[in-house]
Formats: sequence, structure tokens, C-alpha cells
Amino acid sequence: MSKVFSAHAVSVDGYITGRDPGAGRGLGDAPMLFDWYFDGDTPSGVFDGFKLSGPSARIFDTLAGRVGAVVAGRNTYEDSDRFGGGSPHPAARLFVLSRRAAPEISERQTLVTTGIEDAIAAAREAAEGRDVALMGGGVLTAALEADLVDEVILHQVPVLLGSGRRFFQELPKHVRLCLVEAVPAPGVTHLHYEVAR
Ligand SMILES: NC(=O)c1ccc[n+]([C@@H]2O[C@H](COP(=O)([O-])OP(=O)(O)OC[C@H]3O[C@@H](n4cnc5c(N)ncnc54)[C@H](OP(=O)(O)O)[C@@H]3O)[C@@H](O)[C@H]2O)c1
Repeated sequence: MSKVFSAHAVSVDGYITGRDPGAGRGLGDAPMLFDWYFDGDTPSGVFDGFKLSGPSARIFDTLAGRVGAVVAGRNTYEDSDRFGGGSPHPAARLFVLSRRAAPEISERQTLVTTGIEDAIAAAREAAEGRDVALMGGGVLTAALEADLVDEVILHQVPVLLGSGRRFFQELPKHVRLCLVEAVPAPGVTHLHYEVAR
């Protein structure tokens, strides 16, 4: 069975954006969350243009290589300029979760308006045995609530942002995590957890 995981660059106080993210503004006032993608000398084997430190490249490419489909929340989709009509991943189809119509969705993208379970089921089918990556704090939280997440990865950047979009939103229950790996790297610490069941 393919896995469902979420890997985000996150501040130590739990934000995945700064203030005022949006279309054309990226992560708002916190572009430093993504500095480690470009600050190294090891090119990613999956994402063109990414140059990471050696330890980060190993972690990043291992995760990226597992992805067969992506489920992104509507906010991530809109704030990322709709991924130019394509996908955030070079080899994986994008599924956008929303409760609203999206007339602008392209034929290379799929809109799901019937909930997180349907979005993940459709993504799993498209992934053909590979894994499903979740993007967006709202989508991750909905999937945790539905007990559909296997792994949570925090690429923790040493900054306190004070405000922004939260990685984890309000949950109606506790979710226990088991640490699989913790890797300190230049400008980021990679924390890889499995969801305990
Ligand atoms: N730092 C990183 O690594 C990283 C990674 C990914 C994204 N981001 C950033 O994070 C921000 C987005 O995160 P976010 O938490 O604000 O939003 P999000 O999870 O991307 O999107 C939330 C939206 O998704 C839809 N949604 C969520 N749960 C749903 C459910 N159960 N059923 C139906 N629809 C559901 C709703 O859309 P509707 O309102 O249309 O109903 C909701 O408003 C963006 O700015 C993005 O650029 C950062």
C-alpha cells in the first residue's frame, strides 16, 4: 500500500509561511524557509535548479523520489500561482482540494470538492503504487483528522516567525508520532516522524 506523507519547511514556532503569503508573493515575508533548497553545492536529482547541502540533498531527493501524486489545499494552489497549470512535482499529478469550483483548473490538474478521503483516494490511484504527498497545513490537518497520514516530515528552519499559516491547525484528538530520523544540516534540521497507530 502506498504511503501518505507531508513534508514542509517550517519555522521553529510552527509556521509554513510568513505574513501575507499569496499569488505573486510566495511565502510572504518568510522566503528564508526555502533558503536551504538553494544554499548548497549538491544539485537535486529530482528538481531542476535546486542545490542543497549534501545531507539535505539525500533527505530531499529520497522523499521527492517516492512521490507519485500530490494533494494540495486550495490556498497552496492559489498562493503558488496555480503552479502555472502544472504540478509542484516534476513527475506527479496534482490534486487540488477545495469546497469551491475552480474554473481555471487545467487539464493537467484535478479538482476534488468532495473531501479529503476522496482526494487521497484519487491521488493514490494516480500514483500507481507510489506515495502521496500532502501540501498545505489545512490539508495535512484534515488528513490527520481522517487518520490518513502515515508520515510527517518537518524541515525545521531555525527562525521564529511569529505569524503566518500554521503547519498544524486545531485537531479534535491527540496524534502520537514516532521519530524515525533527525538530521541536522546547514540551515535546516530534518525531522522525520511516523504516525503511531
Ligand atoms: N513551507 C512549505 O514547505 C509549504 C508547503 C506547502 C504550502 N505552503 C504554503 O502554505 C500556505 C497554504 O497553507 P494553508 O494551511 O493556508 O492552506 P491549504 O491547506 O493549502 O488549503 C486550505 C484550503 O484547502 C481546502 N480544504 C482543506 N481541507 C479541506 C477539506 N477537508 N475538504 C475540502 N476542502 C478542504 C479549503 O479550500 P476552500 O477554502 O476552497 O474550500 C481550505 O481553505 C500557502 O501559502 C502555501 O504557499 C508552504
